[in-house]
Amino acid sequence: MKNKIFHPYTPFSNIEKGFLNIVRGEGIYLFDDQGNKYVDIVSSWWAVALGHGHPKIVKAIQEQAGILQHSITGSLTHPTVLELAERLAGLMPTPDRHSVFASDGCSAVEAALKVAIQYWYNVDRPDKTWIIGMDQGYHGDSMGALGAGFVDDFHKPFERAVSHPAKLPFPIPTEDDPDGFLPSQTVIEQHKDKLAAVIVEPLCLGSAGMRMYSAGYLKQLADCCAENDVLLIVDEVAMGFGRTGKRFAFNHANIDPDLVCMGKGLTAGYMPLSACVVKDSIYDTFTDKGEKDCTFYHGNTFAGHPIGCAAALAALDIYEAEGTVERGAEMAEKMKQWMLPMAKLECVEELRFLGMIGVVQLKPETKPCILKIKQALFEQGYLFRPLGTMFYLMPPLVITDDELRGAVSALQQTIEEFC
Ligand SMILES: Cc1ncc(COP(=O)(O)O)c(C=O)c1O
Repeated sequence: MKNKIFHPYTPFSNIEKGFLNIVRGEGIYLFDDQGNKYVDIVSSWWAVALGHGHPKIVKAIQEQAGILQHSITGSLTHPTVLELAERLAGLMPTPDRHSVFASDGCSAVEAALKVAIQYWYNVDRPDKTWIIGMDQGYHGDSMGALGAGFVDDFHKPFERAVSHPAKLPFPIPTEDDPDGFLPSQTVIEQHKDKLAAVIVEPLCLGSAGMRMYSAGYLKQLADCCAENDVLLIVDEVAMGFGRTGKRFAFNHANIDPDLVCMGKGLTAGYMPLSACVVKDSIYDTFTDKGEKDCTFYHGNTFAGHPIGCAAALAALDIYEAEGTVERGAEMAEKMKQWMLPMAKLECVEELRFLGMIGVVQLKPETKPCILKIKQALFEQGYLFRPLGTMFYLMPPLVITDDELRGAVSALQQTIEEFC
């Protein structure tokens, strides 16, 4: 059959080589149409936190599909979305929250950006329209998301189409400023009258190459935003639901963000569903009872999709019942210990760790070897997706000791062989 797919993030040269036709998933494994088995070492774009084919989520989806497949949330509701909104509010440090539901990470981000901008309109400060993100931050591929996050390697063609009035520099710790926050403080204070919100990927810039920064920075950012009347949007789409060793990455900083975006792990990757969880102090301004109509005229057809909500409720149950976050934190420590010997390899620039993310940053001169390493790992049954000269493990949180140890040693041996 001719391939008519306009593939995302796929160079034409890869299409010419041909690629796997994945027909089934089970646990941490994906199976192709030839019966070959591969370790999904990056959790299918960081989403499949509970592995493939978890019977409880599959059952929840099947059951919901037999009851109500779709109904909108514009001036209507249904039981699964009601329950999910309640559960998400309960996961926040302060539970007075309402959720905007959407279908994927970038549409949750898009909602967050618009809620932030309209909030300032609602409270009669309409000049506050800027949203700024961190340099090389990533929040999805919609134009709104590109206006806040922008990864040079991916988004160059759109450079002239989006405006970046300012950026938070990536934090570089110094002796006087151990979290590297002061340059960001300067930017926020300078633009506070224009700033509606700041949006960040908490603790780790994923798409920019798993670049990590401290919880101390995030705490100072939250305080600075509050002091300067700037909303803080924390984009937990990639880091949420246990990836970093806590339920949300922002929990490491003990902060209570104004808006929290989530996707991917919300349904453990089983259904396209996302949410932007909004503090009630913001939500309450979206009223049509005052002098002006402040209704939020924004919504996706599939906002709060019943089958997606059922999958999310099942995933949340499993995260709790199976202690996924706690188990992930324990596995993270083991992964780190197993990976640490790689630091001694001549070709390794540095290792980085955050929960169940383990990064091997190779030196720039290894660039010609990257595809060979990737291919050799593929031949051993591992689906690594290097970013530049960086290999990383971000496996389903349910991976076993033996499986994880096997992946780490395959990576080490293959790097040693080619570099
Ligand atoms: C931090 C972050 N935000 C948003 C997104 C966009 O999510 P989606 O691809 O589901 O639109 C991603 C995707 O990787 C992400 O990592």
